[in-house]
Amino acid sequence: SKGCKLLGSGSAIPSLQVSNDDLAKIVDTSDEWISVRTGIRNRRVLSGKDSLTNLAAEAARKALEMAQVDADDVDMVLMCTSTPEDLFGSAPQIQKALGCKKYPLSYDITAACSGFVLGLVSAACHIRGGGFNNVLVIGADSLSRYVDWTDRGTSILFGDAAGAVLVQSCDAEEDGLFAFDLHSDGDGQRHLKASFTENDIDHAVGTNGAISDFPPRRSSYSCIQMNGKEVFRFACRSVPQSIESALQKAGLDGSNIDWLLLHQANQRIIDAVATRLEVPPERVISNLANYGNTSAASIPLALDEAVRSGKVKAGHMIAAAGFGAGLTWGSAIVRW
Ligand code: ACO
Repeated sequence: SKGCKLLGSGSAIPSLQVSNDDLAKIVDTSDEWISVRTGIRNRRVLSGKDSLTNLAAEAARKALEMAQVDADDVDMVLMCTSTPEDLFGSAPQIQKALGCKKYPLSYDITAACSGFVLGLVSAACHIRGGGFNNVLVIGADSLSRYVDWTDRGTSILFGDAAGAVLVQSCDAEEDGLFAFDLHSDGDGQRHLKASFTENDIDHAVGTNGAISDFPPRRSSYSCIQMNGKEVFRFACRSVPQSIESALQKAGLDGSNIDWLLLHQANQRIIDAVATRLEVPPERVISNLANYGNTSAASIPLALDEAVRSGKVKAGHMIAAAGFGAGLTWGSAIVRW
């Protein structure tokens, strides 16, 4: 059977930086409140004509460069995002931007902050069972476009970014994805959502198909609505369970892990999970202070920074876990 390995990483961030003090000018909050409760100090925000697709393509290009893989040898592009710039999918636009000449299958994966972990596992499945050789897994999101900037409960948390990893087929002995554990709970969606606007749903459902209500109004999505406390509790409960389950499947325990790499949502969540798993702080990756919660981008962005700064080295074992809207959560035990 085939294996798959993580071969290169890349990331890209928008140029506009927004500090906690900048936010305190538009909502009733403070740098102190935000940093103590979340660990976040700055975030990057797409502005003007910035495009998430371009940001994602930039991250992907850097990952290809590190992996020394030519864009023409890419078999598949997986774009993990909940904020595509085309409702029909944004991955083909990235394939176009990269100039991959063989028209690799490119599609979006929508799983909020769990998107990248799901993308990694999907890449592995395509490689092991589908004969693919080089799969680009990109996590990119621009939640700033769906934030209610008057809501201090959510506007302080999110930032925009893109990160990418090239996953390549290899011999089974070199396999770099040891185990994974993925879940979702649609019942928890009420705690965190950016739904199709309720007005339009009422409009469509309430009339029982009367022709007088035709044509339908143009649809849109509401801003992010979140019950922070519930999401916090969900993360602290589910993430350690998921990582423990993945480690168990791989025949490993916390002591085999060089790095704990969680979705960057809140430093208190990261600390709570690390404590539960008995992973000491020096083996926990965190760059939340600079970027906030960048949704599907947070894991590949933090990974790329840790690889380029020399923290994560070839052969290191990483327990990665995503969690968020859906609700969705999951983990993967990988070797860099
Ligand atoms: N500035 C100042 N005060 C604030 C702010 C703010 N930005 N936000 C809330 N407060 C106030 C509240 O009004 C409340 O005041 P009160 O005590 O007078 O009622 C007090 O601070 C405490 O508010 P809580 O909501 O209880 O604060 P909490 O400690 O729970 O922190 C937070 C809120 C940071 C949102 C936290 O719950 C959290 O991080 N939750 C997890 C969110 C998350 O990780 N989401 C990830 C998924 S994202 C995705 O998938 C798209």
